[in-house]
Amino acid sequence: MYQMLLTNLENGILTITINRPDKLNALNRDVFSDLDKATDEIQNDPSIRSAIITGAGAKAFVAGADITEFDGLGKDEAMALAKRGQDVFFKIENSSKPIIAAVNGFALGGGCELAMACHFRIAAHNAKFGQPEVNLGLIPGYGGTQRLTQLIGKGRAIELLISGTMIDAATALQYGLVNYVADAGELLNKATVILSVINTKAPLAIAACIKAANAVFDTTSNGYETEITAFGECFTTDDRKEGTSAFLEKRKPEFKGK
Ligand code: COA
Repeated sequence: MYQMLLTNLENGILTITINRPDKLNALNRDVFSDLDKATDEIQNDPSIRSAIITGAGAKAFVAGADITEFDGLGKDEAMALAKRGQDVFFKIENSSKPIIAAVNGFALGGGCELAMACHFRIAAHNAKFGQPEVNLGLIPGYGGTQRLTQLIGKGRAIELLISGTMIDAATALQYGLVNYVADAGELLNKATVILSVINTKAPLAIAACIKAANAVFDTTSNGYETEITAFGECFTTDDRKEGTSAFLEKRKPEFKGK
């Protein structure tokens, strides 16, 4: 089904592994096309509750956009490439099911941008984050200037963007770029444990939380209004009734996503 991804579905968690280890999992057209399809699969398959994106091999999550595809691009083609990347990453960011990045090594350029499009990130101790595009006479094109600023603040973001400096996992944790740092061998297990808890919660409420949190950064909507509407819509769901009944009856809720 996928040329560039390995997938594994277990207990409602789809693990997606970008599988170009010889090129440090660089994002070429085929990887983008597969990530686009995988995001649809996450959305459309009711047996998938959440997903993890990681990279194959011990060295890299994703070492960036595939630099070999930059050759011969003019302004219009480069803009189209950036738009395509942004569209796929918006799709990940706006997924109604949680998608988290398990960063197992270099997350550079488009790799850092992919990790930032995910709902949150956990990193292995050997992870390295950066936007080294200035070294190539470029800037990030897949949302990196925006999401890095959102996640770590303008001063730190501009420093990383204009210096091309890489930061290690401990610094990423201190900056709030990642939520946890784990041993490389424990990374996927840590991600799975986190998602196993999330997967017991009400799916429609999860989707509403993601939508409302994303609305903070959407200049076309008012996040507080989005929250009010989503709060109201929760009251039309069976899961809200199940959640409150279960609390009052002192039992665990069984959410159906309805
Ligand atoms: N695009 C295309 N190929 C890439 C790549 C990228 N972004 N990043 C790494 N590769 C390829 C290398 O060309 C090399 O291929 P080869 O074996 O056919 O020569 C292979 O992956 C291994 O990379 P290599 O550079 O030999 O590994 P390293 O351990 O010496 O260095 C990095 C690792 C990550 C520091 C280095 O690969 C690098 O700087 N990559 C580019 C990062 C970048 O600028 N990303 C932003 C792109 S906009």
